[in-house]
Amino acid sequence: MIASYQKRCQQRVDAALERLLQPPRPELERLYQAMRYSVMNGGKRVRPLLVYAACEALGGQDARADGAACAVELIHAYSLVHDDLPAMDDDDLRRGQPTTHRAFDEACAILAGDGLQSLAFEVLADPERNPHDAETRLAMLSSLSRAAGPSGMVGGQAIDLDSVGHRLDQQALETMHRHKTGALIEASVQLGALASGKADPASLRALQQYARAIGLAFQVQDDILDVESDTATLGKTQGKDEAHHKPTYPALLGLEAAKAYALELRDQALHALRPFGDSAEPLRELARYIVDRRS
Ligand code: IPE
Ligand code: IPE
Ligand code: MG
Ligand code: MG
Ligand code: MG
Repeated sequence: MIASYQKRCQQRVDAALERLLQPPRPELERLYQAMRYSVMNGGKRVRPLLVYAACEALGGQDARADGAACAVELIHAYSLVHDDLPAMDDDDLRRGQPTTHRAFDEACAILAGDGLQSLAFEVLADPERNPHDAETRLAMLSSLSRAAGPSGMVGGQAIDLDSVGHRLDQQALETMHRHKTGALIEASVQLGALASGKADPASLRALQQYARAIGLAFQVQDDILDVESDTATLGKTQGKDEAHHKPTYPALLGLEAAKAYALELRDQALHALRPFGDSAEPLRELARYIVDRRS
């Protein structure tokens, strides 16, 4: 089920992203090429899928979630471009292709990331591309900007870079993961709920609990895959965390305990969805996928 659902949502968000990434003037061809290269390159689109699935869980329509789905993927793609830069994780391979700074150059990769980030907020603010009333658009902007910025992803990336070579305890590691990866995943679910136009406080609380659990599970599984997958499957260089002395769950707990923890978080996420019926099936499938995935 997840494969067909994933494909349908991927096609939907890819078509919308493609429309957003057309250069408005010929002088900007190279910048837009780098932005397109960083986005239209076979990402799993987990965050857009969460937007659509959360919207569906509350009985909303996909078409109302397209703007939010694009916005979260644009932020995610920008975070990867910058994460791979020599000054950060210094990676050469992303989604099976040379990283943006390798395919273009560093300055171009920095600007492409900056451009993708701003474009995300431009889309959310635009009533044509994100057809909601001003209050809903403002709520979406507020949620995504907090999740992307210093109190979310950027904060987590700063903790990550400061932690290299240090031994974090489990609480500190969890804080880092909740910021660098969990925050954007939580925002994806929240934006999907807002896009449904039908979010009530009790459903929002349940979805928030779900998102908190899978947000952490996602990065635990990313850490696990860095240890036990291979470069061809991952589309990024395997073993970089250990080589760069990054604090990770497998390094702290051991591989088997890290896997058990990912499953525990999945079960917490599924438990949070018990007030929902069949409409939350895509969210349940995504929780399973996040800890079963091989790439
Ligand atoms: C990788 O994210 C970076 C993390 C936040 C762990 P994904 O595993 O979602 O990467 P893509 O988008 O599929 O390439
Ligand atoms: C990424 O964490 C978090 C981001 C905000 C991009 P990682 O550095 O572990 O992501 P990968 O493994 O390079 O995709
Ligand atoms: Mg990193
Ligand atoms: Mg990295
Ligand atoms: Mg990683």
